[in-house]
Amino acid sequence: AHLPRTRAAPWQGAPCSGARRVSPQPLGGWWVHSVFFGGGTPSLASPLTIAAVLETVSQCARLAADAEVTLEANPTSAGASRLAGFRAAGVNRLSIGIQSVDDAELQLLGRDHTADEALRTLEEAKKLFPGRTSIDLIFGLPGQSVASWARGLERLLQLCDDHVSLYQLTLERGTSLFKLVQQGALPTPEQDMLAEMYEVARRMLQDAGFRQYEVSNFARNGALSTHNLSYWQGSQYIGIGPGAHGRFVPRGSGASLREARIQTLEPDNWMKEVLAWGHGTRKRVAQNPLDVLEEILALGLRTDVGIAHQHWLQFAPSLSLWDAFGASEEVKELEDQGLLLLDHRGLRCSWRGLAVLDSLLPTLLNQLQQTWADRVSPT
Ligand SMILES: *[C@@H]1O[C@H](CO)[C@@H](O)[C@H](O)[C@H]1NC(C)=O
Repeated sequence: AHLPRTRAAPWQGAPCSGARRVSPQPLGGWWVHSVFFGGGTPSLASPLTIAAVLETVSQCARLAADAEVTLEANPTSAGASRLAGFRAAGVNRLSIGIQSVDDAELQLLGRDHTADEALRTLEEAKKLFPGRTSIDLIFGLPGQSVASWARGLERLLQLCDDHVSLYQLTLERGTSLFKLVQQGALPTPEQDMLAEMYEVARRMLQDAGFRQYEVSNFARNGALSTHNLSYWQGSQYIGIGPGAHGRFVPRGSGASLREARIQTLEPDNWMKEVLAWGHGTRKRVAQNPLDVLEEILALGLRTDVGIAHQHWLQFAPSLSLWDAFGASEEVKELEDQGLLLLDHRGLRCSWRGLAVLDSLLPTLLNQLQQTWADRVSPT
């Protein structure tokens, strides 16, 4: 389950009540294998709140003894001092939003931590969560060069633990950064340069012993995030908190289709709804089998192992990967270009293909839709 985007103390009981009543039915028989506190600045929450949410989860469902419990932490000094408290509360994996080790870049990003604080939080985290500390980094900032990006990464590779996530900056409307770029005060990063930054980074990470197990994620010594891996593999998850997403088959309701659920985005409204109705679910959409397959395809191909035949058949008993993709000329072309593989193991991207997955997906989704229409529901 993906759990709350818990924010700060004022909410206290709300996430717990939201967890208790996430669906009209209790979560009775469910096994929960991972819990993720993320989506904002959950490390502002008190360890007591985290402990209370975990307690509620274990009352409502079966929380596996070895469940992965991740917390997203901002690398401020206030956050660092709470890490031991979070561990005592049951958190066993940390994801630190370091973003950059350049103070000017951090300012540009509007972060309220310094590079120094980031590195000190990392130090502290490694002591408390050895082998289970991850860092998030952003590349593609206006004004950043390939060389300066590589220097920052080099420095972090000396200090980091066994998991690194890389994100390309997306300029979001309404941010001051967006305005500065739009006004021409800062340069727009070129597409070619962004691709080179990504390429340089994945090679450096590979040289440092990391496996790129997903488009944006790297792990060594087997320190993969099981939470996110289960998401890319299409497992069911429950999202609790403002704007949280979930995907699951509601139990006890007689439904057999998966539902996509979205909780109310605005925090105050979300809380009011939870207090009034016991849940903050704003939208429920039943996913038809093709919707689900499209997700399985798009998410599964993000991983280096891709989609195994057996795994696919669980979602598409009547349309194997061979049926869907085996006869397509376009798919064969992608294979010939060395970007995609369809073989006895299943369907997956090559190392080169992973870097350009977004450009492969339209072809693959289109192919899936066509074969689905032809074979499964001929009209
Ligand atoms: C992992 O999943 C959480 C939500 O469940 C998300 O907030 C986070 O960004 C994901 N991390 C990666 C590296 O995809």
